[in-house]
Amino acid sequence: MTALLHVEKLSKRFRGLKAVSDVSFSVPQGSIVALIGPNGAGKTTTFNLIAGVFPPNEGTVHLAGKPITGLKPNRVCAAGIGRTFQIVKPFGQLSVEENVIVGALARERSVAAAREHARAVLDRLGLADQAARPARSLTLPDRKRLEVARALATRPTLLLLDEVLAGLRPTEVDRMVEVLRDLNRREGLTILMIEHVMRAVMALSDRVVVLDHGEKIAEGTPSEVVADPRVVESYLGSEDI
Ligand SMILES: Nc1ncnc2c1ncn2[C@@H]1O[C@H](COP(=O)(O)OP(=O)(O)OP(=O)(O)O)[C@@H](O)[C@H]1O
Ligand SMILES: [Mg+2]
Repeated sequence: MTALLHVEKLSKRFRGLKAVSDVSFSVPQGSIVALIGPNGAGKTTTFNLIAGVFPPNEGTVHLAGKPITGLKPNRVCAAGIGRTFQIVKPFGQLSVEENVIVGALARERSVAAAREHARAVLDRLGLADQAARPARSLTLPDRKRLEVARALATRPTLLLLDEVLAGLRPTEVDRMVEVLRDLNRREGLTILMIEHVMRAVMALSDRVVVLDHGEKIAEGTPSEVVADPRVVESYLGSEDI
């Protein structure tokens, strides 16, 4: 499989702290890859480096073979990467549909076309009946779904999901897992997801990359990674999987 995303020797320092240190991995076209590791491991920072929130101190990011290192977020989005935020931040005053239209306008030429696409995406995520509600009135699971909808509305080829299952109940996790699996299988969407819910990581991902203290400590299939003593020691020992 060819790599849709490739990060090579990526490093980011915040003053003295090495938040991400010499991290390399690939996300094959059409795959689901999970990025896991303990709190503070550098997972969200890695997403921010890919998405252009800040440039890396060292290293490169390539999307479909083209360098995107250091591009601003709007350019990264235009290149085909959609992302969700760990702390969901919808425009609270706007309706659910308007929030998704904002995402869709990254790609569509008219508000009418953006609205039509937004409706299709809301339908896909089971949010159509909430479309007219103010975003701030949504429950947490629905806000998580809205976050995914806003990212999807930008028509990404690669979707970056930052803990979209956190705080959801098991049945809500299962529902989201189904939506993500469907987007991957039926629409060929490539997904890189940061996730602590190991049940979902095991169910969804083709490959898993493990970070600890900013460094990649393991990579492999889900079953390889959960059997790796370093991963068990640094991360899974404390998790209930
Ligand atoms: N903008 C920033 N400025 C300074 N330090 C930061 C910044 N962003 C992250 N850090 C630090 O970098 C390290 C990695 O943080 P990061 O948010 O990437 O971890 P994470 O793996 O996403 O953790 P979690 O599972 O808790 O979300 C942490 O020590 C964090 O405090
Ligand atoms: Mg994080």
